[in-house]
Amino acid sequence: MLIAGIIKDGKEIELKEEEIISYIKEYVNSKPELVESYEIFTQGQMIVSDDFYEEYAVRVLGWTIVEGTRIYYQEGNKQFDKMAYLLAGYNLEKMKPYVLENGRYVQYINPIEREVEKLGFELANSKENELSFWYPKTANIGFKTPDTLITQFTDEEFRVIKSTKFDEFNHEALQKRIIDAAAKENFNLDRDLFLRFGCSSNKFFFGSCHLNGLEFLPNRLLAFFDGLYEKLEWRESAELVLREFIQTNYYRRQIYHGMPLNTEFRVFFDFDTNELLGIYNYWDTETMIDNLHSKADRMTFADTAPLLERDFDVLSPYLEDEAKKKLPNANLKGKWSIDFMYDGNNFVLIDMARAECSYYYEKVLEKQLALQNK
Ligand SMILES: Nc1ncnc2c1ncn2[C@@H]1O[C@H](COP(=O)(O)OP(=O)(O)OP(=O)(O)O)[C@@H](O)[C@H]1O
Ligand SMILES: [Mg+2]
Repeated sequence: MLIAGIIKDGKEIELKEEEIISYIKEYVNSKPELVESYEIFTQGQMIVSDDFYEEYAVRVLGWTIVEGTRIYYQEGNKQFDKMAYLLAGYNLEKMKPYVLENGRYVQYINPIEREVEKLGFELANSKENELSFWYPKTANIGFKTPDTLITQFTDEEFRVIKSTKFDEFNHEALQKRIIDAAAKENFNLDRDLFLRFGCSSNKFFFGSCHLNGLEFLPNRLLAFFDGLYEKLEWRESAELVLREFIQTNYYRRQIYHGMPLNTEFRVFFDFDTNELLGIYNYWDTETMIDNLHSKADRMTFADTAPLLERDFDVLSPYLEDEAKKKLPNANLKGKWSIDFMYDGNNFVLIDMARAECSYYYEKVLEKQLALQNK
């Protein structure tokens, strides 16, 4: 590990902090093609200072820079031990790669990312992603699922949420509807409950997804409205879902303000061909470390990642077997992502969405592309 310096082509170059910029500058100036490329990189900048050399080295040359308590690296770079730096207390600063396009440097987006964005866009607001669509089709195919109560928001409630006039929301009327529906469907409200909307939870503020008693609902809903109203913009309705809160028989540390890092899986399945397209660790180490915003969450995650990876390696063959047997019994069409949480005994089917708008679908496409090119 470096205290300060540069990692290029997997090789560590120890430097003093104040030497880093001049090292890059000298390197660039020793190669005419890089001189030209650096000039293009800084074109259009109001003030060009030598600080740009560092950004250039990371975005264009793909080098990694260790400086102070920070480490700057190009997204996707696997040539240094990210976890080691993270655990040593460094702040990881990810930068997107830049490539030349029509004589200008632009952010590189790989073709698969572009494809996923296009496919996902078309399905993102599909009614099929609502829990009321997929839950009845998968509740009785042999997997454990949380006991579930679905309530529709009225048009008026939905309007209030979308217009962010949350203080106009009639919580009493909603609670009354929930109590009536629960009585009708024999749903026990008097226990730990998991709250979500039909299309999504508010997991980044996990405290808002957990309640013990309906009296906490108004408070939790405010956090939901705040977190999700933008997501509802293109929808015509929304549903409020209360579920049995799944307890695990093991303990995990928490991120996202209270979300335990439980062992979870994301399975991709094609219901037209009954083919399992892939099975992934919901907490993919690389992805999480690259994307967690809070340093505290990153440290907690780094600490837990080996456990998550071990569980994934040990358990995924069993889930794969079970999924291949049971998923074909669901009356669904198309490709889907199906999320399972391991409670210590069972794989609990907790969430689904169309594959094309699900995170990690790019991994499925990458795998297929690699197979084609073999
Ligand atoms: N019934 C439950 N009991 C306890 N925890 C749950 C329950 N359902 C979901 N969770 C936890 O909350 C997380 C988010 O829930 P869920 O998958 O329903 O929402 P989501 O916002 O659609 O998530 P994603 O973005 O992964 O699709 C899950 O990954 C799981 O850790
Ligand atoms: Mg989901």
